[in-house]
Amino acid sequence: MISQINQIQQDIASQIITSIDELEVFRIKYLSKKGIINQIFEDFKLLPPEEKKQVGPKVNELKDYITDVYTNNKNNLSQETSNINKQDLSLPGDFQNTGSRHPISLVKNEINAIFNRLGFTITDGPEIEDDWHVFSALNFPPEHPARDMQDTFFINKTPEIILRTHTSSVQVRVMENTKPPIRMIMPGRVYRNEAISARSHCFFHQIEGLYIDKDVSFADLKQTLLFFAKEYFGSSTKIRLRPSYFPFTEPSAEVDISCNCNGKGCNLCKYTGWLEILGCGMVDPNVLDYNNIDSKLYSGYAFGMGIERIALLKYNVKDIRIYSENDVRFLSQFTGVI
Ligand code: PHE
Repeated sequence: MISQINQIQQDIASQIITSIDELEVFRIKYLSKKGIINQIFEDFKLLPPEEKKQVGPKVNELKDYITDVYTNNKNNLSQETSNINKQDLSLPGDFQNTGSRHPISLVKNEINAIFNRLGFTITDGPEIEDDWHVFSALNFPPEHPARDMQDTFFINKTPEIILRTHTSSVQVRVMENTKPPIRMIMPGRVYRNEAISARSHCFFHQIEGLYIDKDVSFADLKQTLLFFAKEYFGSSTKIRLRPSYFPFTEPSAEVDISCNCNGKGCNLCKYTGWLEILGCGMVDPNVLDYNNIDSKLYSGYAFGMGIERIALLKYNVKDIRIYSENDVRFLSQFTGVI
């Protein structure tokens, strides 16, 4: 009888019950009145007393085993069915929010792409800098107001460690490490110790451009910027260059683009018909020499623009603060993919 019990146990262990119907078949076969377990008990009664002692525990064990298998399967299957029943299949699907790029990234990527097409490669540099890379190597005289505590965030006084106030510092890093020809653009975040208002922030973003080779002329600079303006703001865009001053470029200019109001005058261009977009100039020979590039052999141009400023013109968002407030209602309106 013991081998019969073992056989039954083995049969059950090899069975897989996958539905309520199969479980019912199992119950009838093993646990019903006329089922196998009752039959075993009937047979057990007929055994001689010594054998009963031996077989008794085995019979009980078998009964417990079968009841366990039955209840476990029952629990599993009823959980599955109740899960199915709880789902309301008529409900609409869960709405998945798709993220969107930050408008500053969109503008930056678009500008990068335009200059990429002209053969400029992208590079970057550290935001925490020293005086040499931000000012001295860029020909800032020691008394220049831009070094003033008013504008610069100081991290350490001696040696002087500061937060870069413009991406022109990356020009210096590039010149240190690269032999001309150099044709690079350098996007990045910059910091200035200014009161936060709708028009200025203590941090913002710039893109710097640098081109150094033999015989680079002001005409090359002008044509490159005209190409950029037409690509970015539309093919009918005009540019105008106004003389300006930067310590690291000579001559220097500020560049305006024609306003969409076609010179009629509007709020955005303050009735001038022109919008300022960037600063530029021919790299000052002093800067080339400071950075071990022979200024008798090479010349170059540089330009720098504020990304927030370009974004303002593109999206007409006039409050610079909103770009860094992380308000999803604002950010989700930008769905560009670049
Ligand atoms: N670094 C200048 C600024 O922050 C912009 C600039 C870059 C001007 C390169 C000329 C050449 O205003």
